[in-house]
Amino acid sequence: MNLDKLFINLWKEYISLAPQAKEIHSLFQKIEDNIITNDHIAFRTLDLKECNIDVLSKVFLDLNYEKKEHYIFEEKNLSAYYFIHKNPKYPKIFISELKLASFEKEIQNILKNIIKEIPAKVLKSSELIYSKKHWNISYKTYKYLYEISEYAAWFYVYGFCANHFTIYINDLKNFSNIKDVNTFIKKAGFELNTIGGEVKGSKKDLLEQSSTLAQIIPVKFEERIYNIPSCYYEFAKRYKDKNNNLFQGFIKQSANLIFESTDQH
Ligand code: NI
Repeated sequence: MNLDKLFINLWKEYISLAPQAKEIHSLFQKIEDNIITNDHIAFRTLDLKECNIDVLSKVFLDLNYEKKEHYIFEEKNLSAYYFIHKNPKYPKIFISELKLASFEKEIQNILKNIIKEIPAKVLKSSELIYSKKHWNISYKTYKYLYEISEYAAWFYVYGFCANHFTIYINDLKNFSNIKDVNTFIKKAGFELNTIGGEVKGSKKDLLEQSSTLAQIIPVKFEERIYNIPSCYYEFAKRYKDKNNNLFQGFIKQSANLIFESTDQH
């Protein structure tokens, strides 16, 4: 699989879970009359050897991505890396993983057992990253996981897929700042994640980010259908440092707040 094909497949699965992302993308495309650049695409996984960051990132490393900085989110029991391609037309890839050892045995067992349901062929395939879930889900288990870790509960419901795509504001011709982007999104009827303020980070941090609240979609559980937050769309503006280099990394505190875009609302 080449990179362009991979991104087409990731986008296809992502907008099937969050059709609002497609609507937002079209709104920008109409105004911009151009290709909308992606700053980064983010993924969630577990730190099990079958599906950890090393496993999920392989498809990108094989297509000439390079592993960059490591981040630890202590309160959420998460660890993350981002990956970058030499060709700036390709988005950065941000992959986080839940550290299972931080949880009680019962939680660990629920998550280990769902991974056992994945066919070996899929685990080894480059399609794993957008293969979604391979297990049945119960609402009771979802609620139980949600009380302990929103991240674990989200992964339990959706499995492997892009958690969010990110519009790169720097490449928009008709928007010069993130506030105008946010106003545009809200006027179009979409809600933003306001935890910690609509804009996360600042020019001083070299990165400003905002995001929609994850779209609520009907999900089939063993018991019945329930409405659950799925994926969201992010917006990012990057700034140059004092050496005139555009900042490529992430800000831990901002990322921590952006994770909460999939909280129940
Ligand atoms: Ni992000």
